[in-house]
Amino acid sequence: MQTIFSITELRKALGAERRAGKRIGFVPTMGNLHDGHIQLIHQSNATADITVASIFVNPLQFGENEDLDAYPRTLQSDSEKLAAADCDYLFAPNIDEMYPNGQVIQTQVEVPVISDLHCGTSRPGHFRGVATVVCKLFGMVQPDVAIFGEKDFQQLMVIRRMTEDLFLPVEVQGSPIARADNGLALSSRNGYLTPEELAIAPTLNRTIRNTISQIKAGRTDYSALQEEAQAVLEEAGFSRDYYNICNRYDLQAAKADDSELVLVAAAYLGKARLIDNMVIDL
Ligand code: PAJ
Repeated sequence: MQTIFSITELRKALGAERRAGKRIGFVPTMGNLHDGHIQLIHQSNATADITVASIFVNPLQFGENEDLDAYPRTLQSDSEKLAAADCDYLFAPNIDEMYPNGQVIQTQVEVPVISDLHCGTSRPGHFRGVATVVCKLFGMVQPDVAIFGEKDFQQLMVIRRMTEDLFLPVEVQGSPIARADNGLALSSRNGYLTPEELAIAPTLNRTIRNTISQIKAGRTDYSALQEEAQAVLEEAGFSRDYYNICNRYDLQAAKADDSELVLVAAAYLGKARLIDNMVIDL
């Protein structure tokens, strides 16, 4: 695997691959890689000839009181994991490479409506930061296909919308959520949890599955279901963020006659904010 820090070097290397007729797959990340990220690399390898991973902790998508400074930076072990997974290129630009004009005065990409729901309500500006950096990365890497995890269900929808609206010639693929055996969705932020909190964390997914089985049993009083689940999570030690049963295609609150649903949730546990979701097949 070749590690590249500059856009010039990246363009040179990938230009040669493209001229050789290679289909380029791309997996953007913020590093501190776990098996969920590596699954995306495998998916890219399966669909493309060349896989490029990026590692960039994007300040633009972090709010003022969020964990930008604390976010784990583990480039050495990340690059070993990527090499072991047969990734071809690691692109790890620094902040000046990514934002040469500073973060504030440059062009930003805003995907309306969907960016203001759920995670966007508790993290204003977050999806503008995500869409902007992913758009820039697409311009740098010019991938044929890019892979994103369904763990960040709303992020995947924002990126699909942006790619479609801007006619970016990139095929966006989703990849299923990688979970621990106890159901906990793998996340770099799980590293913030104490052993006691790690024992509590799977309650989030257990609660989601419990809500879904009640929906499958016929309940459509979604507000009450959401409130009951929030109470269970609080009782277990979480603090509230959101827990919403939604239409799968626009992420608006589900109506009683909607049949294609997704449950999206986020909750605080100690220093971590955990998110999870499950599609509901009725
Ligand atoms: P990051 O949180 O590092 O995640 C990188 C990619 O890995 C995302 O597509 C995410 O959905 C996926 N991923 C994380 N945990 C996963 C899991 N348990 N199962 C499956 N996929 C998982 O998401 C970001 O970085 C950033 O917002 C980024 C898109 C890189 C833009 O900065």
